[in-house]
Amino acid sequence: MAQVPAGSGTGVRHWLVTGASRGIGHAVAALACSRGDKVCLVSRSAEITDVAARLGENAMGIAADVTNVDDLTRLASQISTKWGRLDVLVNNAGLHRGGTLDRVADCDWDATLATNLTGPMRIIRELLPLMPQGGAVVNVGAVVGFRGFPGDSCYGASKAGLAGLTQVLAAELARRQVLVNMVVPGFVFTEMTSSISERARRAIVNRIPLQRMGTPEEIAEVCWWVAGSTYMTGSVVFTDGGLMCNL
Ligand SMILES: NC(=O)c1ccc[n+]([C@@H]2O[C@H](COP(=O)([O-])OP(=O)(O)OC[C@H]3O[C@@H](n4cnc5c(N)ncnc54)[C@H](OP(=O)(O)O)[C@@H]3O)[C@@H](O)[C@H]2O)c1
Repeated sequence: MAQVPAGSGTGVRHWLVTGASRGIGHAVAALACSRGDKVCLVSRSAEITDVAARLGENAMGIAADVTNVDDLTRLASQISTKWGRLDVLVNNAGLHRGGTLDRVADCDWDATLATNLTGPMRIIRELLPLMPQGGAVVNVGAVVGFRGFPGDSCYGASKAGLAGLTQVLAAELARRQVLVNMVVPGFVFTEMTSSISERARRAIVNRIPLQRMGTPEEIAEVCWWVAGSTYMTGSVVFTDGGLMCNL
């Protein structure tokens, strides 16, 4: 019998998107709301409630730091009280700290791993009890987690770790029929990439076969498809204009 994506019987899915105040996470949340699903937007800033309010009645905002264990426990409790279930979890909140190894401060290493790797592991652990059969976890990775970019040891290691976690949890959670996949953006115009110099930007775009940066909306569309898949788990979906083919 064909499997259908999880929903509350009405076909409406309940999403939680971390890092949804701007950029890719916001685009994912906006897309899911616009297609009739319910979405909880999460970021550290208290303004996330206003950001969510602007997306209409399908959205709600909860301020939480994915590196803070107490915040995650509170978040799970609020989702349980409000919805009693969670169909789609998008681990998108991310932090980039650069610097060659001789310049990497321990605090940068720790903050990057805490946000990009430990946070997703803990949030999945907290929210899993609320996820029904057919639930979907979408982790947002990075090309840097699959290829060696000098100066990106913290970020690259954190995203490579997240790719490993995706594979392990895909295998572990299959018995609960919870699907775990990774969407990997290439080079997308957001606040995270806004401070890159024009010269560096041109150099990266030159390596992209499609010869342009991606938009948050293009990544969001792929997260939507991945979250709706019923027979894909442990997969890595590059959404990078072909960048991986050219590195
Ligand atoms: N842009 C790219 O080219 C690119 C490429 C590959 C992968 N990615 C990945 O895509 C994801 C989104 O990136 P983006 O470019 O949209 O970044 P962005 O514009 O910098 O947005 C990052 C989001 O994460 C939130 N955030 C950061 N730390 C957090 C924490 N500890 N707890 C909760 N929320 C936190 C931020 O909100 P607050 O500051 O309000 O907390 C913000 O909403 C990241 O995982 C990133 O690594 C991006």
